[in-house]
Amino acid sequence: MSLNVGLVGATGMVGEEFIRLLTKRNFPIKSLRPFASEQSLGRSIELNSAKYPIQILEEGCFDGLDLVFFSSGDDISLEWAPKAVAAGATAIDNSAAFRMNPDYPLVVPEINADQLKSKDTPQLIANPNCSTIQLVVPLLGLKKFGLERVQVSSYQAVSGGGKPARDELLAQTRIHSESQSTDPVVDSKPDKFPHQIAYNCIPQIGGFNDDGYCSEEVKIMNETKKILGLPGLPVSAFTVRVPALNGHAEAVWVTLQQDVRRDDILFALKNTEGLQVIDDPKTNQYPTQVQASGQEDVFVGRVHKDLSQQNTWLMWVVADNIWKGAALNGLQIAERLFL
Ligand SMILES: NC(=O)c1ccc[n+]([C@@H]2O[C@H](COP(=O)([O-])OP(=O)(O)OC[C@H]3O[C@@H](n4cnc5c(N)ncnc54)[C@H](OP(=O)(O)O)[C@@H]3O)[C@@H](O)[C@H]2O)c1
Repeated sequence: MSLNVGLVGATGMVGEEFIRLLTKRNFPIKSLRPFASEQSLGRSIELNSAKYPIQILEEGCFDGLDLVFFSSGDDISLEWAPKAVAAGATAIDNSAAFRMNPDYPLVVPEINADQLKSKDTPQLIANPNCSTIQLVVPLLGLKKFGLERVQVSSYQAVSGGGKPARDELLAQTRIHSESQSTDPVVDSKPDKFPHQIAYNCIPQIGGFNDDGYCSEEVKIMNETKKILGLPGLPVSAFTVRVPALNGHAEAVWVTLQQDVRRDDILFALKNTEGLQVIDDPKTNQYPTQVQASGQEDVFVGRVHKDLSQQNTWLMWVVADNIWKGAALNGLQIAERLFL
C-alpha cells in the first residue's frame, strides 16, 4: 500500500521534521500535498527526490488524499481537519484543538493504539502535547505498580514554540555575543516570549488560568489522565521555558501504590517500548537535551527514591519534542493504522 498524503504546516518546525521522518522511516508515499500560508506559495517541498509545490487551504483541497497531518495551530485544525475527514481522509492533528474532546482519541501508540478505528474508516486522531507524550511513556512502564500521584516540573526548549521562537533565542544570543558584554541583559525586545529567553528561564508557557496554572501545565495534567485512561489520577505540573534549542526535560515525582525496589523500577522502565534508560549518575550518565535531540526514543535517568514521601520515585525524563513530542508520534500513529 502507498498513500496520498497531505501535510498542513509543511514549512514549519514540526512540518519539516515530518518530511525528514517520512524518508527516514520509509513511509510508503504515492504523492505528497504540502500546505502552508500564502507567504510560502512558490516554494516546494522535496521528498524522495520528487518536488511538490506548496498549496494553500481551499475548498476541495483534500480530495483524493488518504491521510492528512495537521501542524499549523488550533484555529486551522478546528476549521480544516473535519473537512479532511469529510473528504475521506484520516486526519492526524498536532494541535490542541481536539485533544480533550471525548469524541476523539488522544493517542500515544505504545499506550492506546487500540482506540484507533480501522484504516478504512476516515477518522480524526489527536496527537498529544509534546511534554505529555514524553511523560506518559515512562508512566506506562510503572502503571503495573499502581499510579497514585504524578508531579512534574519541565525544562522546555524554545523549538517547542515553533521556528519564530527558536529564532528569537538565536538572535538574542548573537546580539549578546557581538556586544561582548558580561551583563546578562540583552539589548533586544522580546517578541515570541514574555521575557528575554537567552541566559534566562521563564516560568510560563501559554496564558494563565484563575487557579494560577499556565495552559501548558493544564494540557499535561488533563492529557496524561486521558491517555492513560486514569481520570482520577492526581497530576500536578509546573512548566518552564529554558534556553535549550531542542529537547524537553522533565523532573518527575511518581508515587506508586506498591512499595517497589529500585531494581524492579529499572527493569520495568527498561522493558517499556520507546523508552531507554541511561542511569549511572556516579559516572555522569543520565540523559540530556542535547543528547536526546534527533533521537526517536524517550530517555529516563536519575531514578531514585524520594526520602520525604512514601513509595515515591524521582526521575529525569528527556525527549526530542519535535520528534517523539510531535512529528514522530503522529507518524507512528499512521504506521499503526496503515502498515
Ligand atoms: N514545536 C513543537 O515542539 C510542537 C510540539 C507539539 C505540537 N506542536 C504543534 O504543532 C503545530 C505547529 O507547530 P510548529 O512548531 O511547527 O509551528 P511553526 O514553526 O510556527 O510552523 C507553523 C506552520 O503553519 C503554517 N501556516 C501558518 N498559517 C497557515 C495557514 N493559514 N494555512 C496553512 N498553513 C499555515 C506555516 O506556514 P508558513 O511557513 O507559510 O507561515 C508553517 O508551516 C502547532 O499546533 C503546535 O502547537 C508543536
